[in-house]
Amino acid sequence: MSFCTNLICYPKNSKRKAKGKKQQSWRIYSLKELQSATNNFNYDNKLGEGGFGSVYWGQLWDGSQIAVKRLKVWSDKAEMEFSVEVEILGRVRHKNLLQLRGYCAEGQERLIVYDYMPNLSLFSHLHGQHSSECLLDWERRMNIAMGSAEGIVYLHHHSTPHIIHRDVKSSNVLLDSDFNAHVADFGFAKLIPEEQTHVTTRVKGTLGYLAPEYAMLGQASESCDVYSFGILLLELVGGKKPVEKLDSTTKRTIVDWALQLVLDGKFDEIADSKLCGKYVKEELKKVVLVALVCTQNQPKKRPSMLEVVELLKGDSKEKLLSLENHEIFMETQDIEDPNLISEAKEILESVEREV
Ligand SMILES: Nc1ncnc2c1ncn2[C@@H]1O[C@H](COP(=O)(O)OP(=O)(O)OP(=O)(O)O)[C@@H](O)[C@H]1O
Ligand SMILES: [Mg+2]
Repeated sequence: MSFCTNLICYPKNSKRKAKGKKQQSWRIYSLKELQSATNNFNYDNKLGEGGFGSVYWGQLWDGSQIAVKRLKVWSDKAEMEFSVEVEILGRVRHKNLLQLRGYCAEGQERLIVYDYMPNLSLFSHLHGQHSSECLLDWERRMNIAMGSAEGIVYLHHHSTPHIIHRDVKSSNVLLDSDFNAHVADFGFAKLIPEEQTHVTTRVKGTLGYLAPEYAMLGQASESCDVYSFGILLLELVGGKKPVEKLDSTTKRTIVDWALQLVLDGKFDEIADSKLCGKYVKEELKKVVLVALVCTQNQPKKRPSMLEVVELLKGDSKEKLLSLENHEIFMETQDIEDPNLISEAKEILESVEREV
């Protein structure tokens, strides 16, 4: 499949129109237009800041709301790759993926324009500015789990070319007005020039989501996303952060915490206290078991995202039973490659020290 370097795939594209599909306008924005939409990137419009730059809320002349990601300093060398990659990502369409509306590349400025998500990120509801409002009941949480899994399935299995997300985490799961999940920043790491290390963004809050082999070798694969998705599931039902500080010297990962409670048969203690006991026990059990199967250290032992969706959807008692009997829930489980694990832990700790 070849990709155009110019924007020839506008919504007015006759083929797409003929299919009768409603298309968002995907186009190049001028810097002037985005400056005016965001009140000149006013501090009051700022939604937040990530490893790649700041995100601003904005309103276009037609009244539609947008989120504009303003990338940090850019190198001219990467100019071509940027527009090509953004156009590829812009063509990925799925109800659970955050839609790119276009971009702006003028002078040193590189901006990406997205749909604005009024309920912000899953992170903000679990641990951030919205957490005290307790807006995520059990039904919404299950819908977010399924939706984000389906978005990632689309990236891994149905988009051309296939896309590895590389940064699945709760701040990259955005929520629309009905609390449906829209996975954001897919393929984003690819947009960043080689020389601009994006280790900073990992270190900034993604550390607890990294599969050990990715942390060690830096090789992204679909199964790294599966690992991160497992962490996200535990966070969603347990309301804990991927790594919690117990005191000034001790840290505990969400996997260690949940696995111990599963081994002790204390599923109820995993449920987020903000749910006030209102959840479906069997569903909680299923999600936790699926999450732990996803976060196994050996990538080849993890399920694919397609299998994850099947497991999450399935309400067959046999499937749940086979999950429960999985080797990782046996007290006497073998740790397959202790060297790999301790090496990974050392690397993670050394990266953490740099923060
Ligand atoms: N389309 C959007 N609508 C609403 N809020 C958004 C949108 N895009 C991003 N945000 C919010 O803006 C903030 C910054 O996002 P950004 O993607 O830059 O950082 P991040 O997700 O924390 O880290 P990373 O750089 O690794 O993706 C986050 O809180 C995010 O939830
Ligand atoms: Mg993000």
